[in-house]
Amino acid sequence: MEQPAPSPTPAAAESQYFSLNPPPANLSNHLTLARAFIERHASEGRRVALVTSGGTTVPLEEQTVRFIDNFSAGTRGATSAEYFLQQGYAVIYLHRQFSLLPYSRHYSHDKRSFLDFMAEDPATGTVVVDEEHQAKMLRVLRQYADVKRANTLLILSFVNITDYLWELREVAKLMRPLGANALFYLAAAVSDFFVPKDRMVEHKIQSAEEFSSSASNGGAASSKPPPAARTQGKSLIIDLEPVPKFLKQLVDGWAPEAMIVSFKLETDPAMLVRKAVYALHRYHHHLVIGNLLSTRKWEVVFVSAEDDDEDDLRGDAKSTAEKWIRVPRSRRARSASGIESLVGKAAG
Ligand code: PMT
Repeated sequence: MEQPAPSPTPAAAESQYFSLNPPPANLSNHLTLARAFIERHASEGRRVALVTSGGTTVPLEEQTVRFIDNFSAGTRGATSAEYFLQQGYAVIYLHRQFSLLPYSRHYSHDKRSFLDFMAEDPATGTVVVDEEHQAKMLRVLRQYADVKRANTLLILSFVNITDYLWELREVAKLMRPLGANALFYLAAAVSDFFVPKDRMVEHKIQSAEEFSSSASNGGAASSKPPPAARTQGKSLIIDLEPVPKFLKQLVDGWAPEAMIVSFKLETDPAMLVRKAVYALHRYHHHLVIGNLLSTRKWEVVFVSAEDDDEDDLRGDAKSTAEKWIRVPRSRRARSASGIESLVGKAAG
């Protein structure tokens, strides 16, 4: 019987992923900005946080009409970025294009139009902020102006999973000289499955059978692997491949001295702590913040290792309904039953 191919090592998976899936066009421009930002704040002794936010997409076509999306409005990332800035960090905010941004988030994705915050001053015929929004907008505006003046916020964007991973890896490498003054706060919702470049069709997938032959995508005779998304009869067949888990590479290789906080999103309460503890033991980073889709706005669970400094990790986050679970750190991967008993102990 044929044996399944062994899984590649994390380093081999990294090299394969990044050689097969090319970088976004604006990467070098982003890295020029990030390098200058990091160097300036490092020279001033400031800590730098990379906050990721928003969901990554998985395009089905090279000229992308259809894509799969990951849930995230960017609220967690944008809000947290404001708190990091308040705490004196310089923040690189790597977010999904058009998702929420720090400060403007208070107004941009509101149910009301931004025009509802405005009024006309009849005496001068100019536009002013409506009386009822004056106090809050002034407070937000002052915070934003301080950040602009100090130049402590760099905003970068991504759209798809490959853009995100390239940006994360390259910015992490730039942050490496910061050592323990670097913090990664990975709130972005990252795709677990994707279409690799060599299995992506170029043109829009046709739904009408008359047009859905391979003719529209470069002819039948091709040495390329079969497309990952294709029509079969009237159905659309999508056959995605796993995205390698790069958290391991971040912790071990790209930013080994940095503090790393990852998030775990689940919908089933029975899975949340279990998966968060599993992630902590698997990747050996500092903190996993677990949240459920339905209660994410007011409830989180913090899972950290017993030997991490609780005060450092707690920071200023006491206002959220939070629950702390401390688990023994182990450099060894645990068996599934080991993790279950840990979760039993921690949650009990
Ligand atoms: O933006 P909001 O609307 O406020 O929503 C916030 C949020 C719910 C999206 C956020 O709080 C959150 O939970 N973000 C993480 C969602 C997520 O991707 O979870 P995950 O279980 O798929 O991944 C867990 C961790 O593994 C993540 O930190 C991710 O960086 C990492 N990962 C994921 C996939 C992958 N291929 N490689 C990874 O390294």
